[in-house]
Amino acid sequence: MIKVRDLYKSFDGNKVLKGVNFSIETGEAVAIIGKSGSGKSVLLKHINGLLKPDSGEIWVDNKLVNTLSFRKLQNIRAKMGMVFQAGALFDSLTVGENIGLALRRLTKLRENEVLERVQSSLIDVDLQGTENLMPAELSGGMKKRVGIARAIAIKPDFLLYDEPTTGLDPVMTDIINRLIVKFQKINSITSIIVTHEMRTVFDVSNRIIMLHNGKVQFDGTSEEIKNCNDLAVRQFITGDSSLVC
Ligand SMILES: Nc1ncnc2c1ncn2[C@@H]1O[C@H](COP(=O)(O)OP(=O)(O)O)[C@@H](O)[C@H]1O
Ligand SMILES: [Mg+2]
Repeated sequence: MIKVRDLYKSFDGNKVLKGVNFSIETGEAVAIIGKSGSGKSVLLKHINGLLKPDSGEIWVDNKLVNTLSFRKLQNIRAKMGMVFQAGALFDSLTVGENIGLALRRLTKLRENEVLERVQSSLIDVDLQGTENLMPAELSGGMKKRVGIARAIAIKPDFLLYDEPTTGLDPVMTDIINRLIVKFQKINSITSIIVTHEMRTVFDVSNRIIMLHNGKVQFDGTSEEIKNCNDLAVRQFITGDSSLVC
């Protein structure tokens, strides 16, 4: 369960989140959409405790994330896989070392178990045998998949994806979308997928939350958003800039 209550966050007078509220049940997959700069990444960083709110509450598994000590926060992060926007791989480490790093930091696995988990995670994203490659040798789509392998390697209860398909071609987008659905279905992981690509939204989730002007402008199903008459929502999903909002 993830619950966000009255979340406010500003940066030097730039009011980014102005009272955000929603709850996500265990096993749900929810897409968070909104224009570039609407605060989607800032919101995700509050859920995994990287940012602290000006006011409000973030609950994960009945724990108030924004007040936890560093050690207790690490316990939550050990259950939370993050797939970052730009892949966020360390360029000087191999694929295997990149995945192993998360496992060594967040789990108590023995060295041979770490190596096994690295291999099985790469198999899960169809990149078996790539552990010794360097990130510079990978295509954009492969980097995203290594980022996903690193996130699932810890066997998380929660998966947070930040723009997992941005900048990818349609074929690679489809591959990533299928992976997101696969992990969701097999392990009933609670997932949040931040994206501004409507194709990814409809492929991976049945519930959509839209951020607009610092608040939740829409929270409902794919069917409901298709029939929603709110101008900001319509403008976003049709990409029509002539609609006023
Ligand atoms: N660490 C930060 N310091 C100052 N401003 C920030 C920081 N992180 C995000 N912002 C600002 O917050 C706003 C929302 O950013 P972000 O959450 O990245 O948007 P997006 O919806 O595109 O992910 C932007 O105006 C951005 O410049
Ligand atoms: Mg972002």
